[in-house]
Amino acid sequence: MIFSRIVGTGGYLPPRVVTNDEFAARLDTSDAWIRERTGIVERHIADASQTSSDLALEASRAALSAAGVRAEDIDLIVLATSTPDYVFPSTACLLQAKLGIKNCPAFDLQAVCSGFVYALATADNFIRAGTHRRALVVGAEVFSRILDWNDRGTCVLFGDGAGAVVLAAGDRPGVHASVLRADGSHAGILSVPGNVCGGSIVGSPYLQMQGSQVFKFAVKVLDEVARETVAAAGMQLGDIDWLIPHQANVRILEATARKLGLPLERLVVTVDHHGNTSAASVPLALDEFVRAGKIRPGHRVLLQGVGGGFTWGATLVTM
Ligand code: ACO
Repeated sequence: MIFSRIVGTGGYLPPRVVTNDEFAARLDTSDAWIRERTGIVERHIADASQTSSDLALEASRAALSAAGVRAEDIDLIVLATSTPDYVFPSTACLLQAKLGIKNCPAFDLQAVCSGFVYALATADNFIRAGTHRRALVVGAEVFSRILDWNDRGTCVLFGDGAGAVVLAAGDRPGVHASVLRADGSHAGILSVPGNVCGGSIVGSPYLQMQGSQVFKFAVKVLDEVARETVAAAGMQLGDIDWLIPHQANVRILEATARKLGLPLERLVVTVDHHGNTSAASVPLALDEFVRAGKIRPGHRVLLQGVGGGFTWGATLVTM
């Protein structure tokens, strides 16, 4: 039987750090409000010249290097983003060109903050089908480009960045189980309801959110999908060494861990210094904890996404 396994992780954060005090200097908000309601202290924001594919390139190079895999050995690229460089071609194709490789399939996947978990489950299926052996799975975002910087209710929450993994075929899991869900009837509570039409933007180019509805929905579905995924893998919640939920808000993360009965020491938190980086948040968090030597080979990690759509899902992996 063929399984897939994460054999290398990488991450990239743009150098510019924006603190809560920078928002407080020009908006009716404060460091104390942002910390108390979200747990966020600072976030990284891309330079105007940097696009999602630039961030993805740095994260991918780091993942390839950690895996000891050459770019030309990659035979599949799946890239999750809601902030692509262009309408088309896909950011995955632009990344492929920047990596200097050709011919392998490369495509974007749009599931907002669940994007990386969706992408990982997709690549796992390609590998288990036996058609591909070494996939680059990436989450890359410049959410700073779709924020109204005068809306204190949304602009303080997000950051830019990219995370990547190399997923390789092997004879033991690896990826044990994935559960993906969506419910489009909740599209209105979190959206960027605009598009490019006839040379201008129709609708709004800015993120809009009903924060408290998103909060309640996220806690509910993160609890449900964790239980479904662990059951699908034939395991118990107590078998999980690390929980990496999508990094939206410390209160959402801690409420999820509490509902699942997992000690906070097993909860991975990076939202305090990354902000919410949407599809990049889970692979960035994974990479940070792997490089810190906290997540080690053999550890069981539950990766969880939840975001616009609404979409949500989880993947249980042994590192
Ligand atoms: N500074 C100061 N006051 C603020 C700010 C701010 N940055 N933002 C909102 N407020 C005000 C509101 O205007 C409101 O004022 P009012 O009572 O006078 O109307 C007050 O604070 C309370 O607003 P609430 O929305 O009730 O505050 P809440 O405790 O729900 O926190 C928050 C808001 C942080 C957005 C929270 O709802 C949340 O985190 N929701 C989840 C949203 C999220 O994570 N989205 C990310 C994308 S979705 C995803 O990734 C899953």
